[in-house]
Amino acid sequence: KLNTTLEKHKRKRRGTQCWWVAISFSLMLSCAERVSAQIKYSIPEEVKVGSVVGNVAKDLGLDISLLEERRFRIVSGAEDAQFEVNPNNGLLQVHGKIDREELCENISPCLINLKMVADNPMEIHHVGVEIIDINDNSPTFPDDEKVLEIYESTLSGKRFQLPAAHDADVVSNTVRMYKLNNNDHFSLQIRDRGEDKIPFLVLQKPLDREKENEHKLILTAIDGGNPPRSGTLNVTVIVLDSNDNHPFFSEEVYSVKIPENVERHRSVIVIKANDLDEGVNGEIEYFFGSELDPKVHDTFELDSITGEIRVKGNVDFEETELYRLDLQASDKGQPPLKTESRVMIKIKDVNDNKPDIEVTSLSSLIPEDSKPGTVIALISVVDKDSGVNGKVICKVSQDVPFDLTPSLEENMYSLVTKGRLDRETVSRYEITITATDCGEPQLSTVKTLSVQVSDVNDNTPVFSQNPFELYLIENNTPGAEIFSVSAVDDDLNENAAITYKILRGDGLQDAITSFLNVNSDNGQITALKSFDFETLKTFQFQVVASDSGTPSLSSNVTVNVFILDQNDNAPVILCFGNENKIPSWQPRLSLEIKHAVHFTI
Ligand SMILES: *[C@@H]1O[C@H](CO)[C@@H](O)[C@H](O)[C@H]1NC(C)=O
Ligand SMILES: *[C@@H]1O[C@H](CO)[C@@H](O)[C@H](O)[C@H]1NC(C)=O
Repeated sequence: KLNTTLEKHKRKRRGTQCWWVAISFSLMLSCAERVSAQIKYSIPEEVKVGSVVGNVAKDLGLDISLLEERRFRIVSGAEDAQFEVNPNNGLLQVHGKIDREELCENISPCLINLKMVADNPMEIHHVGVEIIDINDNSPTFPDDEKVLEIYESTLSGKRFQLPAAHDADVVSNTVRMYKLNNNDHFSLQIRDRGEDKIPFLVLQKPLDREKENEHKLILTAIDGGNPPRSGTLNVTVIVLDSNDNHPFFSEEVYSVKIPENVERHRSVIVIKANDLDEGVNGEIEYFFGSELDPKVHDTFELDSITGEIRVKGNVDFEETELYRLDLQASDKGQPPLKTESRVMIKIKDVNDNKPDIEVTSLSSLIPEDSKPGTVIALISVVDKDSGVNGKVICKVSQDVPFDLTPSLEENMYSLVTKGRLDRETVSRYEITITATDCGEPQLSTVKTLSVQVSDVNDNTPVFSQNPFELYLIENNTPGAEIFSVSAVDDDLNENAAITYKILRGDGLQDAITSFLNVNSDNGQITALKSFDFETLKTFQFQVVASDSGTPSLSSNVTVNVFILDQNDNAPVILCFGNENKIPSWQPRLSLEIKHAVHFTI
């Protein structure tokens, strides 16, 4: 029990001049004797057992020969029996291990006060022993490792406190300095906080997580002993990400080619941007640029997460051959950093357009006498597709007297006459023009052109027979119609409009024909006088039929007239109309004759 009390007491000791003594076994609590030591020794700690501190008996002036008899002894102050006094020679000697750090911790100087007693007569002496510190402890850090997290954006000059090392030794043997291993980014600064020295890391050069995300440092604490002792602390600096890197695209400009008419949702390209930063600072979203043609929005869509561009609307080469998509990649840092790129989408032509035939008719009426090679229309062929899909071959149906001749200009043709035309044979043509492109598959367009052949005065009037024979009974009624001629003309209109006239001869012929008249419109011939069989039995005349074309064409017919005899005085009524044949006048005449006979009687 005494021991534990003393132990407790030892821990409470303060200062060097005073201590408390508790004597518990006599129930008497003796207290507070402030006594100055009469003699003071000093020894280093950790000296060998048996080492001599000093000749205490001699120094106190005691008779060495009586020491045993007087029971010279230590009564207090050396609880753990670090010291003993030799009764034979009065030497104060080290009896056990003396550890200054155990006895005094950081109290300096470390003084042990021994109370020594001799009997007969009783004497009490106070002897002080100072325990001199030796450098038997190294500086130590509270932990094996220190981890610091520092943002890469931290400005140079910023300080970071490190744990201080502790050294159980005192005065010059305790921590005197710190050292930091050679490194690129940090220096060491020591600040005095009272008796303690606190090490700080000072950032000298900005950190870059993307280059080095961790820095291993070694802090060394060195004490002032001779030789010095040291302890180390591993310092790990973890560099935290700041949004200091822009996203970057794998390509400055992306190029891709797709055919037109591709199906919706078809993938066009996947763009990719990277960002060296970490976490949200490196998470990328994709957007269309703000100045984008609205047509692009209608045609393509962009997945903001995956960077995939897909077809959304109608892709038509004929409308747009090349799309320019400005894009942006943005990270999710605060504030976000952005980068631009561009995607060029070239559209490949597909043969999806038929050729277009455009006809410029010079005239819808072609004179039948047009020379072969006469241009009647201009044909232009257009195909919206490109390349071979535009290239067009144009043809005309074989069964018509027309052909196409290419012109100097590409895809321009002249539609020309190939042979002679004859309105009287074919007055109207349906010309079929076929334009076929060279795409795959081939597409063609058919166009029909109507051509009317116009009349030219190339036909003369034609009489149904030539010559005519007219049998005319004498004594015809003057002014009555005796005959009629008719001609036809294959042409049209004026070219077929016939007028008749009697060709007037000369001499005797002229004298006879002067009695005849012809209706110019219908060819009815009248005789202005009565013919007399006895005077004139036969004669001929010509009727000319002329059309009204310019120039006019005409033909003539000869009419041979035979005057038939008649009995005199017989009443004769002749009415032969237009028949060309000899009428059956004979029986009739005989009837008349019969009558005439009867009349004569
Ligand atoms: C300290 O770092 C060194 C290498 O730099 C290593 O060998 C040692 O094990 C580390 N100590 C601790 C406690 O991590
Ligand atoms: C009548 O026609 C014939 C041919 O049919 C021609 O030779 C003749 O000259 C014509 N006569 C007149 C007077 O035109």
